[in-house]
Amino acid sequence: MFDPAFVRDPHPTYARLRETAPVCATVTPNGMRVWLVTRYTDVRAGLADPRLSKDVVTARDILGDGGDEGKALLALPPSIAVNLLSMDAPEHARLRKIATAAFTARRVRHLRPRVAEIVDSLLTAVAGRDRIDLVTEIARPLPILLMCELLRLPVADADRLRGWTETLVSMSTRSVAEYGAAGHALHDYLTGVIADRRVSRGDDLVSDLLDEDLSELDLVSLLAVMVIGGFETTANLIGTALLALFDHPGQLASLRENPSLLPNAVEELIRFDGPVHMGTFRYTREDVDFGVTTVPAGEVVMLSLLSANRDERQFADADRLDLSRVAGSHLGFGHGAHYCLGAALARVECEEMLGALISRFPSMRLAVPPDEIPWQFTLLTRGVDRLPVVLS
Ligand code: HEM
Repeated sequence: MFDPAFVRDPHPTYARLRETAPVCATVTPNGMRVWLVTRYTDVRAGLADPRLSKDVVTARDILGDGGDEGKALLALPPSIAVNLLSMDAPEHARLRKIATAAFTARRVRHLRPRVAEIVDSLLTAVAGRDRIDLVTEIARPLPILLMCELLRLPVADADRLRGWTETLVSMSTRSVAEYGAAGHALHDYLTGVIADRRVSRGDDLVSDLLDEDLSELDLVSLLAVMVIGGFETTANLIGTALLALFDHPGQLASLRENPSLLPNAVEELIRFDGPVHMGTFRYTREDVDFGVTTVPAGEVVMLSLLSANRDERQFADADRLDLSRVAGSHLGFGHGAHYCLGAALARVECEEMLGALISRFPSMRLAVPPDEIPWQFTLLTRGVDRLPVVLS
């Protein structure tokens, strides 16, 4: 598992695992022993099971200080190591309630016209060119520029922010030192932003959060998880979604003819090849029985969202991309208490970007054969690293 062929197309391996070993022990590329869960019902149940802890203290007990993962956790400042995704109830519920209130549907709806403007300016900047890299020039800048808008950060800081977050989501491919340094740099940066906002409030998410009952640590941690959770994921979704559409010209044509399909199409594209490959690590507090296999207490569990979303038991003809499919039950944004906080925002970004690209460059096509597209993969995320396209 986890070799280049798997990264490019993990679906055949997952199909085999779902049939023959739906809960299996395996070893990650950096030597960590984990249990990999691949069937839809098990993954969905696991995502919401309180016996599968996300708590960072449990994680340290299980991972120890010896392995890379344990060392990486220790290398981070507490504000980055301890966040929504590494907490259990009741602490998680307290912070999540505040985060949800600040990140309201109203704020996101209000952002849609701004998303459209940013998309338009990105597309205008490349419009006269023949060939571009869609990932680097279009998909990656969008979520970063939007987060700068949401948090009222200078656009000039976007590259630094992106560098840190990219390292922080690549635990398995970076050194512990790089990982720790990125964590400290992000912490220092966000601490500076908060100090600045205490003296100059405005209409932004940081200012809203200052009104809440949050410690400085909570504040940095919340902002960090939003930044870390929202960049690579959204960029990867746009990249893989476009690749899937190029690979299915009939579906692409139907979307071009009928743009009202877009919201549904985005759900199906997330189901088909979502950017979050696995749920974040979970740790068994006690023995957990998955029916065929019992995972003992004190083990690391990885729930494969990608595999669950291709499970024939849940989605008929699951390997077929069908933009008219009702795919709402997919697990691409997770499920349960840790369901993605930014799902509404990610949907808006993807809808606006795909809609604008398709209408502005109707004859856009891949500039290289699909098997020359480089994939980028970490244990948790997956996406195309570059997507060269001919615009017209
Ligand atoms: C297509 C884009 C995105 C995808 C596919 C995605 C996917 C996910 C998934 C699967 C989880 C749950 C992980 C788990 O339970 O182990 C999650 C959690 C989270 N996501 Fe996203 N995400 C995306 C975009 C965003 C954006 C734009 C934000 C910005 C705010 C964001 C913020 C978060 C946060 C804060 C959590 C943790 C929630 C909690 O633990 O309560 N995500 N995301």
